[in-house]
Amino acid sequence: MPRNYEWLTLSRWAKEYGDIVYLEAFGQPLILLNSYKVAKDLLEKAVYADRPHLEMARLSGFDKTFVLQRYNEDWRRQRKIASQDLAPRMVPRYHTFLESEARFLARDLLQDPSRLAHLISLKAGTILIRISYGHYVSTDDDPFLTLIRASMSVFTRSAAAGVFSVLLDVRVNSNIVTVKYLPPWLPGTKFLAKAKGWRDIVRKAVWAPYAKSKHSLESGGALLPNTCATALAAIGDGLSPDLEEQLVWAAGTMTAGGLETLIIGMLNLILALILNPAVQAKAQAEIDTVIGRDRLPTISDQVSLPYVRSVVVEVFRLNPPIPLGVFHALSQDDIYQGMHIPKGSIVMANIWYDEGPACEHERTLRESVLRHMLHDPEVFTDPMEFRPERYQNLDFEMEKVTSAVFGFGRRSCPGKSLAESTLFAFAATVLATCEIVPKVDKEENDMMPNVTYSSGIFR
Ligand code: HEM
Repeated sequence: MPRNYEWLTLSRWAKEYGDIVYLEAFGQPLILLNSYKVAKDLLEKAVYADRPHLEMARLSGFDKTFVLQRYNEDWRRQRKIASQDLAPRMVPRYHTFLESEARFLARDLLQDPSRLAHLISLKAGTILIRISYGHYVSTDDDPFLTLIRASMSVFTRSAAAGVFSVLLDVRVNSNIVTVKYLPPWLPGTKFLAKAKGWRDIVRKAVWAPYAKSKHSLESGGALLPNTCATALAAIGDGLSPDLEEQLVWAAGTMTAGGLETLIIGMLNLILALILNPAVQAKAQAEIDTVIGRDRLPTISDQVSLPYVRSVVVEVFRLNPPIPLGVFHALSQDDIYQGMHIPKGSIVMANIWYDEGPACEHERTLRESVLRHMLHDPEVFTDPMEFRPERYQNLDFEMEKVTSAVFGFGRRSCPGKSLAESTLFAFAATVLATCEIVPKVDKEENDMMPNVTYSSGIFR
């Protein structure tokens, strides 16, 4: 089993074995979906909307977050709260806020570009906490931001054994393999000892900002709209302790689910603009022509700035923040193209998909393949190059990316519209106000960034 950069290994297997790869470890079936068509065909069915039971998630306190919830009533209630607030028709309520945050960020970056990573991380936290709870975070030591970061660090550490730890994890849960038999690279017994502390951190990270949000709402001090306020207004007098618990976890999942992904998106955007000055100049020229220099672009200018939009889409394609999506699980036996897919299978969409260097039987395999995903040279010529022109400013070309990078079916990302608006606001504002250039050394030579991507759930 690959332990690092799993999407690359999976892509090699895809090339060798085709669109659907069946693996088994300790009797646990794992299905890898390597084409867009197959991922869509399968994952859009309700029976694929489950998540596997993750002992790792339970131990670290993430089992109540709806991203990892089974396909059950708690998931439905939490998902509804998030989807109602983040639906494409609702997100424009946050546009003015997102635009002004993009402007503050551009101002801060101009003042001190050396704090880029730090400023982006703070801004992602500010946006998500403001939208979820109506509380405005302006400094890094804000207690809610600190707590959410601590809980994300728990998540990252508990998932540190890599995506494939899930197989061992499933077995741990069914007592077939006990922790002492797990390989040494799994966090093991130390992990168990730490688990209690981690659960406490995660619980506090979701309850504390909610309690503040509710209190601010009652005292008239909350920034509106926000997800908690909207949900509380809809619930009215019917707020039972159980429903409140679901609201708390829904808001917590939104904040945590968006944090890393927004940071990754914004950092990759800046990187792409540094590495591709011609793209930057072309996007700036589009803004100059369409918007002029008397005002700053807004999110509603998206329609008339297709090249800037393409730049954002190309950032998502080249560097999908969750290259293998989040695992789905199959709740009933299924038959697809004559293949039997057993109930209980863990199902993974290879959103990344690349073909790597050509090999002998590539041609034969390609004939059997319909549409691969974000690095398929058949769909995206020279897939490792950053080239927004490939979309020809056409929405349906861009949708080849946006319909895959946010996942599939009932579990697809509820934050899609917010993420697209946030990234567009950031891209358009930074392009309109800044020259994004590499650092220079003492001799004025460009120092190009040395980039290493992490492996694990987020890339
Ligand atoms: C920046 C770009 C983002 C990308 C590329 C992204 C991608 C994804 C992907 C691939 C999934 C898994 C879908 C599946 O299981 O098939 C997912 C799920 C999820 N995302 Fe995002 N996401 C982004 C931003 C956000 C934001 C801003 C939020 C919240 C405000 C968010 C909240 C969630 C939640 C809560 C889930 C779990 C959904 C469920 O299990 O029902 N994401 N996202």
